[in-house]
Amino acid sequence: MNLSAFNSNQSQEVIELFTTVFSNSEGEKEGALIGKLVSELITTTDAQEILGFVATSQNKIIGCIFFSRLTFENNSNAFILSPVAVHTEHQGQGVGQQLITFGLEHLKENKVDLVFTYGDPKYYSKVGFTHVSEEHVKAPLTLTYPEGWLGQPLTGSTIKPISGASHCVKALSKQVYW
Ligand SMILES: CC(C)(COP(=O)(O)OP(=O)(O)OC[C@H]1O[C@@H](n2cnc3c(N)ncnc32)[C@H](O)[C@@H]1OP(=O)(O)O)[C@@H](O)C(=O)NCCC(=O)NCCS
Repeated sequence: MNLSAFNSNQSQEVIELFTTVFSNSEGEKEGALIGKLVSELITTTDAQEILGFVATSQNKIIGCIFFSRLTFENNSNAFILSPVAVHTEHQGQGVGQQLITFGLEHLKENKVDLVFTYGDPKYYSKVGFTHVSEEHVKAPLTLTYPEGWLGQPLTGSTIKPISGASHCVKALSKQVYW
């Protein structure tokens, strides 16, 4: 398996990967929704506001992850991890954790201080995320499942409370994802 930065000429393959993986795990409707999210993320996000990485094996993309900027009033340098998918046949073999770790290393190199995500605490705790209270750091939209609001510091040892609202990129800024 090889890990590398996402290139826009991989867009179609990556959209298909997310659509198929989420259709298999959560049904066709969710697959179509996440495929559309990825398509919008790729096409509507400024280059400085998004980072993507792919895992390839035998010239096929078997995993993909995107991070996009989360903006705070105090100018904290933060990104949000969303979404990530590993090809159904390659799940449970460590690809997801390697992709996440690879992405976090690149964010660190790019001097990003904080990373957030919204997902299953059991899974994301394996790669350094812990629960973040909204009293300390506000999510950009209303959370259906507040326990799933997670973060980790890439510089420093803790996430200090950040006052005020946060804003995600346009593609993620829809209540259906939260
Ligand atoms: C979630 C996902 C990205 C994980 O990638 P992966 O390569 O399968 O996971 P890894 O092999 O790196 O990690 C496996 C570990 O995580 C656990 N795990 C995997 N998916 C999990 C989930 N949804 N919830 C909780 N734990 C999970 C496994 O039990 C395993 O634990 P172990 O190491 O103690 O045995 C992948 O399974 C996937 O694409 N799922 C469908 C889409 C999805 O739910 N994406 C995440 C939301 S954006």
